[in-house]
Amino acid sequence: MLTLAIETSCDETALCLYSEKDGEIKSVLLSQAKLHSPHGGVVPELSAREHTRNILPLFEELSKDIDLKNIDFISFTLTPGLITSLVVGTSFAKALSFALSKPMVPVHHLEGHIYSVFADSKVKYPFIALVISGGHTDLFLVEDFGKYKFLGGTLDDAVGECFDKVGRILDLGYPGGPKVDLLSKSARKILPLPRPLINSGLDMSFSGLKNSVKKLFLEGHSKEDICASFQEAVGDILQTKLNLAISLTKVHRVVITGGVSANSYLRERFRLMAERLGLELYIPRKELCTDNALMIAIAGMMRFKRGKIAPKDINPQPNLSLEDFAKLF
Ligand code: KG4
Ligand code: ZN
Repeated sequence: MLTLAIETSCDETALCLYSEKDGEIKSVLLSQAKLHSPHGGVVPELSAREHTRNILPLFEELSKDIDLKNIDFISFTLTPGLITSLVVGTSFAKALSFALSKPMVPVHHLEGHIYSVFADSKVKYPFIALVISGGHTDLFLVEDFGKYKFLGGTLDDAVGECFDKVGRILDLGYPGGPKVDLLSKSARKILPLPRPLINSGLDMSFSGLKNSVKKLFLEGHSKEDICASFQEAVGDILQTKLNLAISLTKVHRVVITGGVSANSYLRERFRLMAERLGLELYIPRKELCTDNALMIAIAGMMRFKRGKIAPKDINPQPNLSLEDFAKLF
């Protein structure tokens, strides 16, 4: 079984050929980070144009060495994301589906992130999934493939969004996350920062943190110290929430995924936490934490095997929750 997967929900144009038997065959990806960097964040209009410009050349590169007739189905990100960017990937999936007479399989972007760990590990059910990305900060109980229970998440900014806003305050360019990660390694001291909503069940809040970071910056503290202090605050919040989710569900198997799970400080912190509590912990390898098409292919393969084919008139949606998606598709 062979799928061609398409991911265009934000600022990465990504395609992947993936077979059930051999895994990832070939992936191609173009990041738009440089294009958006002067704007301090992703500009939806620019993103959609760039996807449109790049998707066909990327497809040509991907399909050079294979006979397209061998593709069994097309997997694509349907939701959530920037609507104009999702439209590019969905329309491309439809065009391929028509040209090759092959079915399309819609994938939820967060489902893709969760199943990115399956590229290297076969995780047993049930498990808790903590998705930390530029658009989401959510905890789910995953009882089986397609059986998702939302446990809690951010009420305002996503944690990756907060990393990017901190990056903007410190004039580090976009995306801020990797730069904050790097600078924090040269910190000399940890500065006081609040831990908003740390004792409020599984609700989270990150929008206030950036204001406190701004204050520290205006007080003249070093960027390195600010980055490390910010990461420590984020780590405290995420670890407390994960701990609570574990004690509420009694599930000790955990998947942490999404762009922010590439953060070296958080990876080490979660590793230590898992060691201390005897958790079975899975975090994708770094290049699979951020957006990619392999994760869409893996989830797409699981969907296809369950007969989850998209109708021809399917339309992308900017904001469908994972639970609602699983009910609809
Ligand atoms: O999953 P992703 O590629 O896209 C979304 O689905 O949103 O996540 C992108 C986010 C950005 O906010 C970026 O700053 C953050 O992931 N990120 C990081 C790191 N690498 C990427 N945040 C902290 N540390 C990193 N090393
Ligand atoms: Zn993502």
